[in-house]
Amino acid sequence: MFNNKIQSLLFKKKNHQKITMLTAYDYAFASVVDEAGVDVILVGDSLANVVLGLEKTADVTMEAMLHHAKAVRRAVKKSLLVGDMPFESYQKEEQKAVLNAKRFVDEAGCDAVKLEWFEKAPSVTKKIVQEGIAVMGHVGLTPQTAEQLGGLKVQGKDVVSARKIIQNAKDLESAGCFSLVLECIPSSLGQLITEKISIPTIGIGAGVHCDGQVLVLHDILGLGGMKRPHFVKQYVNVKEQVLQAIQKFRYEVETSQFPDDAHSYFMDEKEWQKVFE
Ligand code: KIV
Repeated sequence: MFNNKIQSLLFKKKNHQKITMLTAYDYAFASVVDEAGVDVILVGDSLANVVLGLEKTADVTMEAMLHHAKAVRRAVKKSLLVGDMPFESYQKEEQKAVLNAKRFVDEAGCDAVKLEWFEKAPSVTKKIVQEGIAVMGHVGLTPQTAEQLGGLKVQGKDVVSARKIIQNAKDLESAGCFSLVLECIPSSLGQLITEKISIPTIGIGAGVHCDGQVLVLHDILGLGGMKRPHFVKQYVNVKEQVLQAIQKFRYEVETSQFPDDAHSYFMDEKEWQKVFE
């Protein structure tokens, strides 16, 4: 029932091979992530903060998500493409959840959708899955409803909260999710959930024992001005390189060094003189 790309994630869990997942929001970056062989590309609702400069992920609209998912789809050849359902599309307007999940597949060409835990997440998931759409769940820290969790902070640090997250994970597995994102929970809890459920767990700040890992692309590249969470590892400082390139461009334009002959067009001198005849 699942497509080959999803089957290969299940295979990886069974065979203890790690799964990789990154976000992408546009054609250029999505092509690079796809070429690098990352298993899953998520058009995350982190689009809100990273690309659109909004304060909360809950503020991003369905239309904005679809617009970016379509651009990413044009680039992605190999990776599994997952569209992140924005808050308004399934928590605010729960009755439209199935319709909006279908839009991610039919209009944007996504292979699956992701939704965050909330009270009705299992029933919403069931309805979407019944329509033949693959769903990735998300438990632990759920940024769309972070205010109810005391803010963007580690979840599951006491027994009550840890048990609740374990139950949420099991409920989403039973509802038919093919995979779960575990965000910002202690490593031991990430390990326990990974062992207790049969679908792959993809951690973000959930320790090394998860079946896979996901990060926001701009965070690992060192792009974007926001404070990075503790779990982010920055692999390169692209912002610094971009800044230097732009400053050099500005300097060369202001001092008439750009464009030089190598970047200009010329015409035959005799032909040019005819312009003045
Ligand atoms: O939108 C997002 O970036 C996410 C993370 C889990 C990567 O949901």
